[in-house]
Amino acid sequence: MPEREMHLPTVLGPRGRTFGEEERAAVLRVLDSAVLCSAFGSEARSLEAEMAQLYSRAEAVASSSGTAALHLAVAAAGVGPGDEVITTPLSDFGTVAPVLAQQARVVFADVRPEDGNLDPEAVEAAVTPRTKAVIAVHLFGGAADVGALRAICDRHGLVLIEDCAQAWLGEDTAGELLGTRGDIACFSLQQYKHITAGDGGLSVTDDPALARHMRLFMDKGWDRTEGRIHREAGLNYRMTELTAAVARVQLTRVAEVVRLRRERAERLAAAIAGLDGARMPAQRAGHAWWVVPLLVDDNSRWAKSLQTAGVPALPGYLERPLYANPALPGYPPGLCPRAERLIDRTLLVLQWNEAYTEGDVDRIARALGEAGSR
Ligand SMILES: Cc1ncc(COP(=O)(O)O)c(C=O)c1O
Repeated sequence: MPEREMHLPTVLGPRGRTFGEEERAAVLRVLDSAVLCSAFGSEARSLEAEMAQLYSRAEAVASSSGTAALHLAVAAAGVGPGDEVITTPLSDFGTVAPVLAQQARVVFADVRPEDGNLDPEAVEAAVTPRTKAVIAVHLFGGAADVGALRAICDRHGLVLIEDCAQAWLGEDTAGELLGTRGDIACFSLQQYKHITAGDGGLSVTDDPALARHMRLFMDKGWDRTEGRIHREAGLNYRMTELTAAVARVQLTRVAEVVRLRRERAERLAAAIAGLDGARMPAQRAGHAWWVVPLLVDDNSRWAKSLQTAGVPALPGYLERPLYANPALPGYPPGLCPRAERLIDRTLLVLQWNEAYTEGDVDRIARALGEAGSR
């Protein structure tokens, strides 16, 4: 097949999503029960118990999206008007939207050039007396330095929130699961993630007080075991029973999804080991491979060449750092030069999928080889 006719599975089609009969049965089970709202059913509560067990954490709270999961975390951390939250400019807008919603200030720290994850030194330099929390994103499924960030947060009395939306079952260099060192860790079930229920979020913690805050914030500040009393301000971020039922099945599939993504990524790494001008992350063990990030000399040129060969490739991941968006006025250009260089020049993102065959991977490797020789 000519390279430009390479039809890779994508997350927007049945070939690129790992669904089976079990998801279909789960949807019908909920429909037949006629209880679609999780305030009155058992699916979301069961999903929470299963998620807590998967991550060996005391509690999990289900919500309507990854952004909602982060909003629960930020609100439970006590972030409010005038507070500051330090995070990366290289992430989805969902990482910062909750901070804005709490009328707090997002403080952007620069990232490491090799993987785009927060630079702990830059984080520490950004701490002020107003800092309340740090949100560490495990970008693309590769580990942020949670050890160093945990130590900084402990030194300054800050809440550490791990944004694991892209890092299902990712591990750090010591083989520890990402999402187990933060006071709270948040996950997304959005269409593009490793596993999906369309939309959905999960927040995990070992702290019963944080868990209670998150649960209240998720359901209008209402603890339904004690009558119609609103203990604190909250929103309606409930996950529906339909979503939870699908998510429960997806949760049983995530280990295999990540295993296959790792196997294929290792095959690609071996195939392009000698390639000039494009490098996979040096830290590959434990990577969850939400996508495959490559470091190149000129990301626009590489992306164009790959796209011509039928390989979806995105230069820079984002068009601009988060702080350069109109929704976040007042930040100067050049604020985080290493993040800007990754976006403008050196970062190339390949879509990745557990359904890629070995042949798909070999064709992607060949397209990279051709792009490199141009
Ligand atoms: C790193 C990161 N954080 C947060 C989010 C927000 O998640 P959602 O789209 O489920 O609200 C996403 C993805 O969308 C993400 O990739």
